[in-house]
Amino acid sequence: MIKKAADFIKQKLKSENPDTAIILGSGLSGFAAMLKNKSAVAYKDIPDFPQSTVSGHKGELIRGFIGDKEVICLNGRFHLYEGHEPSVIAKVIHILKELGVKRLIVTNAAGSLQTTLPPGTLMLIKDHINFSGKNPLVGKNDDNYGPRFPSMNNAYTPKLRQKCREIAQKQQLELAEGVYLMVLGPNFETSAEVRAFGRLGADAVGMSTVPEVIAAAHCSMEILGISVITNYAAGLVDNTPSHQETLEEADKASARLTALLTEFITGEE
Ligand code: HPA
Repeated sequence: MIKKAADFIKQKLKSENPDTAIILGSGLSGFAAMLKNKSAVAYKDIPDFPQSTVSGHKGELIRGFIGDKEVICLNGRFHLYEGHEPSVIAKVIHILKELGVKRLIVTNAAGSLQTTLPPGTLMLIKDHINFSGKNPLVGKNDDNYGPRFPSMNNAYTPKLRQKCREIAQKQQLELAEGVYLMVLGPNFETSAEVRAFGRLGADAVGMSTVPEVIAAAHCSMEILGISVITNYAAGLVDNTPSHQETLEEADKASARLTALLTEFITGEE
C-alpha cells in the first residue's frame, strides 16, 4: 500500500529527488506559495492516502522547487483528534521515505506555556514530551524502517538546529528554542494543565507534530521542528484561546517562517 501511494505520487508529480519534505501547520500554508515549478495532487486522489478534515488544513501534496532543491510539501496534516489511528501517521511518513525524503521539516501552531514566549514568537523545537498517550509505532514493527525500540535522543537533529539558529541570526530574526508538549486535543487545555505542563519542563503545547517526529526518527530521517507561538495557553495570562486566534497569529508569522525555511532549504550544508 505504501509503495503504491509512493509510486502514484512519483508519477503524478514527476517527483525525482525530494531530499526534504515539509509539513505545514495550521495557518502556515503560505510557504507553499514560494515553491516554483509546482505540481500538486489532492490527498483524496492518492490511492490509500488518509484524508484531513480541519479548516485551515487544505489536504494536498505539493512538489516544487526552492532554488534547485526539490521539496515535497504536505499542505494539511493528520491529527489524532480527528480520529485517525496513530499508525496512519507512520504510513504517511513511510510514503515520504519511499519517495526518497531524508529530511523532514515539521511546523505547527502552538500555545505558549511561558510568559517569556509571547504570541508571534518562532520557537525551534529542541525536544518534545509525548503527552498524547498515543504512539504511531504501536503494532507490528517493520524492521525495514527501523528498530522495535528506537531511541529518541536528539530526534530534533542538532546540526539542523544549529544551521537554523545561524540563519535566524543572519536574518535578524528572533528565534526561541524550547520543548514542545503534545496533547491529544481537540479541547484546549485547562489552566491547571497549563500550569502542570510548564512545570514538567515544556515551553509550548499543541496537538500535532510528535507522532510525525516519532515515525520519522524511527526511520532515521533528520528532523527540524518549528512552532509558531500563536497564543498564551489557557489561563497563563487572563485569556481563552480559540482556533480563530491561532489561524490569525499563524498567518502573521507566516512570512518570517517562510523566509527562515527558504534559506534553510537552499543554504549550503
Ligand atoms: N493549545 C493546544 N494547541 C494549540 C494551542 C494551545 O493553546 N494553540 C495552538 N495550538
